[in-house]
Amino acid sequence: MRIVLLGPPGAGKGSLAFVVHKRLGVPHVSTGQIFRHEIRRKSALGRRVGRYVSSGRLVPDSLVVQVMVAQLGKQRFAKGFMLDGFPRTKGQAAGLDRVLTRRRLPLDGAVYLTSPEPLLVRRLSGRRICVRCEANYHIRTMKPKRVGRCDNCAARLVTRKDDQPATIRQRLRLDHKNTKPLLAYYQRRGLLYEINGVGHIERAYARAVALFEGQGWIRPAGRA
Ligand code: AP5
Repeated sequence: MRIVLLGPPGAGKGSLAFVVHKRLGVPHVSTGQIFRHEIRRKSALGRRVGRYVSSGRLVPDSLVVQVMVAQLGKQRFAKGFMLDGFPRTKGQAAGLDRVLTRRRLPLDGAVYLTSPEPLLVRRLSGRRICVRCEANYHIRTMKPKRVGRCDNCAARLVTRKDDQPATIRQRLRLDHKNTKPLLAYYQRRGLLYEINGVGHIERAYARAVALFEGQGWIRPAGRA
């Protein structure tokens, strides 16, 4: 299966991709995670993207496409992938198309995860992430087993820098601006699908699996 996972900040893209990867084995690439990792390492890329990410602005298209071209060149993505948070603009979508055409890896679909804005704000303001493995939690809806500690690696849970109220507003504003043309881009190509992201993550996962199976992107469970 080769898909891009679209949706506003807080729609649950990362949470859904994590579960899909764990249960179905589809490789997951998140541009946000790559950037945060590079920022923590203080690498040259991290220094270039740091000021964009912490203020909730988009990293320039040319740089994001360059990073993703390098990722998609890795062998493990030849059999499938789920791109989370990329593309985010029409320019990035066109850049991705060029790479996939060159590699003869056409996209199966662009899956847009929807949720109403008040829910997005509640999710982002209550999100906590693991400082080590970046696993996602929420103080009310996706609690860790031990308060303030990651279930996977027991490291500390923190608030993401860009989850401050003013930065959340800025990210949502930017998303409004870019989403319409991006969705139109995939709609024109007959690749756009929508999933309702409201409700518990298990419900979003069940809707996603129904779509993936319905489109023939994965085999129905229980069949060889
Ligand atoms: P990125 O990390 O991609 O952030 P984002 O798109 O703003 O998305 P989020 O990670 O905030 O939300 P999500 O939809 O993944 O929701 P999540 O699953 O975490 O990018 C960060 C920054 O990097 C950007 O602002 C930009 O600067 C830069 N960047 C990245 N990609 C770029 C690109 N292509 N071009 C340019 N710049 C780029 O869920 C949120 C919370 O809700 C969590 O606490 C979770 O536990 C909870 N939750 C999720 N789903 C459910 C559910 N179903 N039920 C209950 N709780 C849920």
